Amino acid sequence: MKLLVLNGPNLNLLGLREPEIYGKQDYAALVQFVENAAEEAGFEADVRQTNHEGVLVDWIQEAYGRYDGIVINPAAYTHTSVAIPDALKAVQIPAVEVHLSDVSKREPFRQVSYVSYAAVKTIKGLGFEGYREAIRFLKEYLDDQGGNA
Ligand code: DQA
Repeated sequence: MKLLVLNGPNLNLLGLREPEIYGKQDYAALVQFVENAAEEAGFEADVRQTNHEGVLVDWIQEAYGRYDGIVINPAAYTHTSVAIPDALKAVQIPAVEVHLSDVSKREPFRQVSYVSYAAVKTIKGLGFEGYREAIRFLKEYLDDQGGNA
């Protein structure tokens, strides 16, 4: 089974960026963590990061017919983008939304997620572990759907 893991803007600055909120580990450590978690769950994973909304939309569109599931941390685009959930709805690939921090306990502008409308589940506030949880959830979800590709 093939998994696409997408990370949005500023996640490449993990470690440097507000470590009290996002932790001290860097983006390379996140990629390693996610690749291990995906392998444990039996996925072949492709982990990507971009600072550009349109690139996320392109990657979601290109995933059609190629990937069984998507894990996405849209970062700041979570709270502003309609194009990302529209793309997820268009390709109909089950997607789990992940946030390192607990966005529900932060600034009011982080309380809205447009991406949630297109996600089968949202996981927040668990740091890197949230990605593992998302991957495990997707595996069970796809197995239940008979989605073994
Ligand atoms: C984030 C939360 C967003 O509000 C923020 O803009 C991010 C990261 C998280 O992982 O906690 O860039 O998605």
